[in-house]
Amino acid sequence: MLSDKSYASPRKPSDKTSASPMSYHIREIPLNLQDWKHFEEYQESSRAFIRSAARGLRIYEPQLIISGDGGAYLIRGEDNGFLGIFKPFDEDPFSARNPKHLNAAATHLHSHRPGETAYKEVAAYLLDHQRKAGVPLTVLVKIYGPRWGSQGKLGSLQRYESHDHDSWELGPSSYEKNDVHQIAMLDLRLINTDRHGGNILVRRSNNEEGRSKLKLIPIDHGFCLPSSQPKDLWFEWMSWPQAKQPLDVNMQRYLLNLDLEEDLLILRGLGLREEILENMLLCSAFVQQGVLRNFTPLKIAKIICKLPQKQIGLGKVHSLLKQIEAVRCKMKEPLVYLFAPAFNHRRHRSDTDIPQHLAESKANK
Ligand SMILES: Nc1ncnc2c1ncn2[C@@H]1O[C@H](COP(=O)(O)OP(=O)(O)OP(=O)(O)O)[C@@H](O)[C@H]1O
Ligand SMILES: [Mg+2]
Repeated sequence: MLSDKSYASPRKPSDKTSASPMSYHIREIPLNLQDWKHFEEYQESSRAFIRSAARGLRIYEPQLIISGDGGAYLIRGEDNGFLGIFKPFDEDPFSARNPKHLNAAATHLHSHRPGETAYKEVAAYLLDHQRKAGVPLTVLVKIYGPRWGSQGKLGSLQRYESHDHDSWELGPSSYEKNDVHQIAMLDLRLINTDRHGGNILVRRSNNEEGRSKLKLIPIDHGFCLPSSQPKDLWFEWMSWPQAKQPLDVNMQRYLLNLDLEEDLLILRGLGLREEILENMLLCSAFVQQGVLRNFTPLKIAKIICKLPQKQIGLGKVHSLLKQIEAVRCKMKEPLVYLFAPAFNHRRHRSDTDIPQHLAESKANK
């Protein structure tokens, strides 16, 4: 956990109005997302965030964060408060430039390519539609200054979220079911290969009756979106009690109404590889199929964790997408059971038995 006490002010500004010769500066990296319907909105909030970081960087230098294995730097605002976390694209635990000189076992590497982590951090934010899981605002930037030279360093900048714990410091039963489900379903759609308890922050607040409430905040998505099904896929929340509880209707509707074409457009705009796109589609389709069967997050996770590691061809994934679209448009017609062998053959509902509340939600759309 990163607390205010653990990071003393790096450099006391003598004159807050002028930049020191040692100061850093930051530049937005343009994204090829003009065709995305929410691009302007995203650009507006990311530019405001980058402007705040620019003001802070004129005064305070980035500070390497001790916790975590990768190169992650605390960026302060002009008021000296914690503003963001900058993660250079080539300082993850498997990269030669990792500032902690780790010799991390390359368990992730067969399905992740070095240099892609910053783009994946941004992708996770953009695919967390309507901020359902609460991934903090994340943008792609270059930061220039003494540490990274005049060439600057490309990386992701994520809004700092104040928090009181990492999720593994508390008993999971105290977390809100909906928070857990939102994070779980994002992890499954994006095949997050790094969802350990330290990558979920916990914020304490008081509700209207003065009772303590815990909010989960998912971070660290650089190892999402592998290009093939990883070995030993596992998620921290799989052992939490909420994972065995059914998804509520709003969650089911959200998942069934996901626009996978929009997700593809975003990932393509970020320049991620086609294999990554195919894999995301495949797992999103499994999530949607699991929702239609009223499966719990744990049950869907167990299926996705067991998917074969071989590459699924582009043609198959496109036909899968078409069929899912057909299901979404004609919820009352018989379902085509895609990849049926991976699901339990002993289904307790018939192929045509779509939960009534979901059928209605489509009809009302
Ligand atoms: N958005 C954020 N808000 C607040 N604190 C954050 C945020 N992102 C990261 N941190 C803090 O920085 C630490 C390191 O960040 P992060 O987990 O993203 O990097 P990492 O080095 O890749 O970690 P890991 O060892 O899990 O691979 C986190 O454990 C957390 O304390
Ligand atoms: Mg981490």
